[in-house]
Amino acid sequence: MADLCNYKITTHSVDETKKLGEKIGACLKTEIVLALIGDLGSGKTSFVQGLAIGLEVPNDYYITSPSYTMINEYPGRQSLFHVDLYRLEDPVDVEDIGLYDIFGDNYVVAIEWADKIRQERLPDHVTITFKISDNQSREIYMSAHGVNAVALLKEIKSTPCAFKNNHSPGITETDMDT
Ligand SMILES: Nc1ncnc2c1ncn2[C@@H]1O[C@H](COP(=O)(O)OP(=O)(O)O)[C@@H](O)[C@H]1O
Ligand SMILES: [Mg+2]
Repeated sequence: MADLCNYKITTHSVDETKKLGEKIGACLKTEIVLALIGDLGSGKTSFVQGLAIGLEVPNDYYITSPSYTMINEYPGRQSLFHVDLYRLEDPVDVEDIGLYDIFGDNYVVAIEWADKIRQERLPDHVTITFKISDNQSREIYMSAHGVNAVALLKEIKSTPCAFKNNHSPGITETDMDT
């Protein structure tokens, strides 16, 4: 699937990355897979914590990486499945880890280390790649794969992510398609 829509965001603190997740969570209305890629400490779990806020997961749930169970489910406006494939040694197909069964049911599925899944078998998804640029800054690239993903990314682009405080330069958003 070609990348039809691309977007780059720079965050300057963990709170900004959470805020970005929250904005995206608030934009979600249909089933989607978010394929999260990036080194340890690049901000994937922090992003999912914000996503949960945007999806209105009750705040007595604390989102951590589901390292031992591999998949955690949280109730919200749409159910959130948080998957972490860090411990997988070899690339797998979605069927191998039981993921196939949860696709198609209006779920939001956020997968850390999604590069360990063979991408061809993923349904419509937004790939979100986290790069550490320095201690506090992360470059976050998004690309849409499939019709639903393109529609979502267009909405994300058109929804400003208001986040400013005195200690932060604010989130920088760059439309890569213009
Ligand atoms: N801009 C930023 N975005 C996200 N995390 C950041 C940022 N700046 C510093 N951090 C720190 O980096 C770490 C990210 O951890 P985490 O979200 O668990 O990453 P991952 O799930 O990718 O391993 C946290 O300790 C967080 O405080
Ligand atoms: Mg993590």
